[in-house]
Amino acid sequence: MPAYPLFKDGSLLHQYSYMVMPLAKRGSLLNFLISIPRSKSAAYQRVKYYLCSQAVLAVAALFEAGLCHKDLKPDNLVLLQDNEHQALLGLIDFGYCINNAGLTSDKRGTAVYAPPEKFQVEMRTVDPTKFDIFMLGALLITILFRDTPFSLANGNRCECINDPSYINYIQRVSETHENPLMFYKKWGSAPAYEDIRALNLILRMIDSNPIKRPSLDEVLADPFIQQYCAPMTTEVKKLYDSLIQE
Ligand SMILES: Nc1ncnc2c1ncn2[C@@H]1O[C@H](COP(=O)(O)OP(=O)(O)OP(=O)(O)O)[C@@H](O)[C@H]1O
Ligand SMILES: [Mg+2]
Repeated sequence: MPAYPLFKDGSLLHQYSYMVMPLAKRGSLLNFLISIPRSKSAAYQRVKYYLCSQAVLAVAALFEAGLCHKDLKPDNLVLLQDNEHQALLGLIDFGYCINNAGLTSDKRGTAVYAPPEKFQVEMRTVDPTKFDIFMLGALLITILFRDTPFSLANGNRCECINDPSYINYIQRVSETHENPLMFYKKWGSAPAYEDIRALNLILRMIDSNPIKRPSLDEVLADPFIQQYCAPMTTEVKKLYDSLIQE
């Protein structure tokens, strides 16, 4: 998509600026996750694993362009149709997007997917790349489990900053630096049918300490992500196509 200049000599060229993008008729990843039946079948698992890798690839493209998203969540990704990159997911909603070159004091980003440093007042600045890595890890949890790492309040919307379990989570993480998945009862024991490589990767991505989180290059190089970066196998593609509502 062509990019048009928004600024000249430090001022906005136009009072209002708009970003035009193709309509993704298949809708958002959130709607897809809500609409598909719950199943532990291997083929269903694989559909989700491909979507995990595709989410990582979408964020990688943004990082490559020198940006961080800062509001990664299933309603901010859309299901793409056939395209030259064979991409399944596209990012939308660049309202909190920021240059990824340095630290930032901008901690905006949907609370339930956001890392602990968003809530730690003593941390005046955050590394936006590590902010995105946490959010991407939380997004992968949602793809796999159809739930957030924390409670899902108000139906589809994830505004659970007042949820006692979430406040407890933030306190525990900031006091003990425990890994959220390790103690949070929902995720304390991993379901046996899940790919253990995915769970281990997510654990590292949502580490409460941003420094310990992997870089996006490390996430991309992970064997789990690598395996599912490839085009879907015929069997999985058939299932995926049958699940899409256009
Ligand atoms: N290009 C697109 N193709 C298909 N659906 C889209 C597209 N852009 C937006 N949508 C739909 O509209 C919804 C809202 O769009 P968007 O996320 O850009 O704004 P927003 O929701 O107002 O921001 P916020 O995340 O703060 O709620 C998306 O979740 C998605 O379902
Ligand atoms: Mg949005």
